[in-house]
Amino acid sequence: MKIVICLILVAITIASALDNGVARTPPMGWNTWNHYGCNTSAINADLLINTAMAMVTSGMAKAGYQYISLDDCWLATERDAQGRLQPDPVRFPQGIAPIADYIHSLGLKMGIYEDVGNMTCAGYPGSENNLELDAKTFAEWGIDYVKMDGCNFPVDDMKQTYTELSQALNATGREMVYSCSWPAYAQNEDVNFTYVASICNLWREFDDIRDDWDAWTSILDQMEATNRAPFAGPGHWNDPDMLEIGNGGQTYTEYQSFFSLWSIIAAPLIAGNDLTSMTQETIEILTNIEVIAVDQDPLGIQGTRVYQSGTNEIWLRQLVNDELAVVLFNRGSATSTITLTSSIINVPSNQKYLARDLWRHGSVGFFENSLAFPVESHGVVMLKLTKA
Ligand code: GAL
Repeated sequence: MKIVICLILVAITIASALDNGVARTPPMGWNTWNHYGCNTSAINADLLINTAMAMVTSGMAKAGYQYISLDDCWLATERDAQGRLQPDPVRFPQGIAPIADYIHSLGLKMGIYEDVGNMTCAGYPGSENNLELDAKTFAEWGIDYVKMDGCNFPVDDMKQTYTELSQALNATGREMVYSCSWPAYAQNEDVNFTYVASICNLWREFDDIRDDWDAWTSILDQMEATNRAPFAGPGHWNDPDMLEIGNGGQTYTEYQSFFSLWSIIAAPLIAGNDLTSMTQETIEILTNIEVIAVDQDPLGIQGTRVYQSGTNEIWLRQLVNDELAVVLFNRGSATSTITLTSSIINVPSNQKYLARDLWRHGSVGFFENSLAFPVESHGVVMLKLTKA
């Protein structure tokens, strides 16, 4: 009898960790790291407030972005007299709670960064031995999203510690998205991704992204090579890292491709640029609601590469209502013709589809059996196929 009760209790604990109700589609928001790094003269209360306003005025909030998130370098160098975390007193003179309140007043949500070790990657106080207290503190401040890094901590202890924090966050009673860096640190060790997906809403698995073509295409390749798509679904997502769109290191075409591929693989869409000064082109990419709708598809099935020939690729994602999203991707240095065929996407050759171009926002006619597209160098053609 005791054993049965124990088993039921364990089952309930796991179920509550799994089903925290959030991130039913990949989280969308903004984070300080990719643009501001650890620049302590930029990371302050005003930055968050101005960015939150810009998220609304630029149309990003309307397009679905929600989270305004601090990454590393927001903390004071010491905990307070009661052992609680505190933000840098000069840069966040009123603390974090009023900022979260303001962000909430705009209809948005707030995210924060910590680390399971005794120090964050940049050397600020970590959460080691304080997981419960820190989870409570975040809940009291009104935090909605916690990114938990894994610097300065033994990989072998991560399973236990990331699990403890998952439970501590749930125990606060506040809904918080839980982003885990554990698999990124455990790259050469065996990680059970079914288990990771049961305690984390999203998880980093590869190296940090940079604002260049090689960085994100190499992450994309690693995601495919390691066959991680099956672990994604509502409430639990692979995290290939945040966006770099608008940071200046790539062409408009490359940023379009980056956004298309991140959407086909159901990646979290966390902008990493300065939202207060965006070009019209950057805004157009980040707020392309037709591409975003692919990323946010309610089925939550992560797309995969279904065709590769030299530098030509075809990526496919199954959408709700029997629709399909397809990305024709040209990695080569010249325009190339990529032919979509029914056998590549595994549909009957006599099945007719209406094809819509999600960047040109218009129909390209019918697709049945085969259709060829010129795709510019480093560019994509992104389609939605609806049964005709
Ligand atoms: C890295 C992490 C980055 C950023 C940085 C902060 O480990 O991958 O996304 O959070 O730490 O120091």
